Amino acid sequence: MIKQNEKKVGAVLVQGAGIAGVQAALDLANSGLKVYLLEQSPVIGGMMARLDKTFPTGDCATCMVSPKLVECARNLNVEILTLSELTDVTGEPGNFKATVRRKPRYVDEAKCTGCGVCTQVCPVKYQIYQEPEVKPVIELAPDDRQKTDCILEQYRDTQGALMPVLKGINNQFGYLPEDVLRYVSVKMNVPVSLIYRIATFYNAFSLTPRGRHTISVCAGTTCYVRGADKLLDRLKGRLKVDIGQTTVDRRFTLETVRCLGCCSLAPVISVDGEIYGNLRGNDVLGVLEAYE
Ligand code: FES
Repeated sequence: MIKQNEKKVGAVLVQGAGIAGVQAALDLANSGLKVYLLEQSPVIGGMMARLDKTFPTGDCATCMVSPKLVECARNLNVEILTLSELTDVTGEPGNFKATVRRKPRYVDEAKCTGCGVCTQVCPVKYQIYQEPEVKPVIELAPDDRQKTDCILEQYRDTQGALMPVLKGINNQFGYLPEDVLRYVSVKMNVPVSLIYRIATFYNAFSLTPRGRHTISVCAGTTCYVRGADKLLDRLKGRLKVDIGQTTVDRRFTLETVRCLGCCSLAPVISVDGEIYGNLRGNDVLGVLEAYE
């Protein structure tokens, strides 16, 4: 145990660079110790970096772990040793000597800037998707086809253009229609499964038609304790939809968000980004009327 104001000497070795190891390394490094963070796989972040969402809050796992990984990589007190194994430890508490075996990485880590060019020219391809021998022909309505072609043309020479293409389609159609996604898959030579993986991960994308106005009810803690659930019930009753659904006349889509960033006005809703706070009783129905 290191007491406050005690001079820090020596170094610490943290074995395993999952979220716990990374946090331990950061805490130790920030207390002034030199830290060796050992990880046997090629990357740090562990299992959490591979998760989509976390239970029970449904928060994005990557959003939580990524800042810590960046902080770890930038902290001058942390030396990350990936592809490394601890083979021997000798000594006694306070004076250990560790022996580490490192596997070759074939990249000069001191020079690597993470630009990704090496992956583009790598002669070894890991094929995770077998293209169908005969590509399906996707028939789109002429108007839809023209809009989609226009978006695809915009990003024709852009590397990793799938995200902006999907964003463009979502903006153009108000959601991501299935036949358009299949058309994009053929045109961009990207597996449909990958497109759906992205489309279902981000809340900004919708696979069902959305209303002209989006009502977002804040379900954050402050709004919840100030009665956001009652607002939600009123809206559901008035619009006759559940969370995530769109009214039959395609006028409103009802959804919840975790915090709209104006907790002092709780309970809060936003309609198309416009904030309405301090809503009591039937106030929320008055807000709706302005859009009806
Ligand atoms: S909790 Fe609702 S705005 Fe923050």
